[in-house]
Amino acid sequence: MKKIIIGNWKMNPENLILARKIFSEIKKLSKKFPKIDIVVCPPFVYLSDLKNKIDKVSSLKLGAQDVFWDNPETGSRPFTGEISASMLRDAGVKYVILGHSERRSMGETNEEVNKKIKIALGAGLTPIICIGEKEHDIDGKFFETLKIQIKDTLNKIKKSDLQKIIIAYEPIWAIGKNESESMKGEDLYQMAIFIRKILSEMFGQVEAFKTPIVYGGSVSPFNVKDIISEGHVSGILAGRSSLESQKIAEILDILSII
Ligand code: PGA
Repeated sequence: MKKIIIGNWKMNPENLILARKIFSEIKKLSKKFPKIDIVVCPPFVYLSDLKNKIDKVSSLKLGAQDVFWDNPETGSRPFTGEISASMLRDAGVKYVILGHSERRSMGETNEEVNKKIKIALGAGLTPIICIGEKEHDIDGKFFETLKIQIKDTLNKIKKSDLQKIIIAYEPIWAIGKNESESMKGEDLYQMAIFIRKILSEMFGQVEAFKTPIVYGGSVSPFNVKDIISEGHVSGILAGRSSLESQKIAEILDILSII
């Protein structure tokens, strides 16, 4: 499977000039590493502008950090502040992060994420579905949490659509921490096996093995080798590191040789 780096810029950077600067630096890197897919997910307001910097054939793509689940058939769309999938597509977006823990902490439910996945797929966007437990408790209750998140968010998703989805496993306890506190590769491997097992139960083994799983939570050049080679995942979802092109360059260097 092709390796992928997804950068979640969250509510950064502070202005468009800075966003253009970081994006241009990442674009240069994408030319040096064409075999690795790079998806940059900036705030909505920067998307249309950054779209102009993307060549059609590039391995660099734009992603959004959310989408609304409105049905385009509903007419006047009375949803103040929301952004639709067709608007994102028009702004050059190919991927969309859904169900990030920071949105779930503001009340987003598995059912809403499920509706958003369907809307995104319908618009030809690739959903990056975030799942993850608050605590990696010793009794293993987190397995049940993840199982429910996978089953409910992927409820009634067509088998043929599973290949168009990326699962981002982001244990909440590992997000926004020091790089040494990310999940260890060997533990991640166990989680990746568990996620594939649930996907296999729902969609069959063949489809489950075609679905990319990426890891997120304090990824940096310091831990990325362990995460990818011991965790056996297809890539990473990085927050803070994705705003520093030097760190992305180092991560790409490492990914290109493992
Ligand atoms: P972090 O964020 O890499 O800064 O921990 C990851 C995320 O929340 O997606």
